[in-house]
Amino acid sequence: MQLLDGKIVSQSVKNTVREKCETLKKEGGKTPHLAAVLVGHNGASETYVASKVKSCEEVGFTSTLVRLEEDIDEQGLVAVIEKLNADEDIDGILVQLPLPKQISEERIINIIHPGKDVDGFHPMSIGKMVLGLPTFIPATPYGIMLMLEHYRIETSGKHAVVIGRSNIVGRPVSILLNSNANPGNCTVTVCHSRTKDLAGICSQADIIVAALGIPGFLKADMVKEGAVVIDVGITRVPDPTKKSGFAIKGDVDFDAVAPKCSYITPVPGGVGLMTIAALLMNTLNACTQK
Ligand code: GUN
Repeated sequence: MQLLDGKIVSQSVKNTVREKCETLKKEGGKTPHLAAVLVGHNGASETYVASKVKSCEEVGFTSTLVRLEEDIDEQGLVAVIEKLNADEDIDGILVQLPLPKQISEERIINIIHPGKDVDGFHPMSIGKMVLGLPTFIPATPYGIMLMLEHYRIETSGKHAVVIGRSNIVGRPVSILLNSNANPGNCTVTVCHSRTKDLAGICSQADIIVAALGIPGFLKADMVKEGAVVIDVGITRVPDPTKKSGFAIKGDVDFDAVAPKCSYITPVPGGVGLMTIAALLMNTLNACTQK
């Protein structure tokens, strides 16, 4: 069993981004600039956005954090995004999800300028991805593909099972794994809460992507010997032994599943780190492709 180490791969992607950013600046180009919008005080969202801003600094980008109160109305948030859309110095806009219930995430995603949609959630970006056209790929699926590429994991002709069909991870990763590309060319089965015999389907998989958000869901008897297991779960569970009061748990019962795998991602230290690296790559592209 080999660990798919998010620390190593994300650092390698960040190094590439940093070098490209330095070259860009030396040649008189503009410094990539990411605007992150955080609404309210959700603890997990605060942590993610802080990491994204810190990572921008590490690679030489400019970042702007726009903090808004939990009770802002939809029109107020629309006005903020329209201003960022019109601001020529801003290359990428990221609105951290989830949003408070008075705001339609769909409406907000729709008004982000597609050229600044570094999260890849806009219908235009998703449509282009489905058609195999160059576009922004959602950060977590993109990070997973970068990880498979880094470890040169053979995907062509393999049976990939994706558990979860969210717009952010499950659905886009199923499209990427199935597309005519490398990595890609998998035969993909997408499982979800209504799937019958989920365990039976998983146990036929060469590659499993667990993205359902239930800690420890994937058990050893659901995994074929030699499978590649990608754990996208990042649930906070109470843990009094930790200073923060919680531990981060993945969707995979790691200790039981790992011995059966050829490759597996740890949590933390796996896919989560790749998400940020992929976002930086999208932001760099947003800056250079204007
Ligand atoms: N919430 C959970 N994952 C993501 C992500 O990749 N981007 C944004 N904007 N919000 C998220």
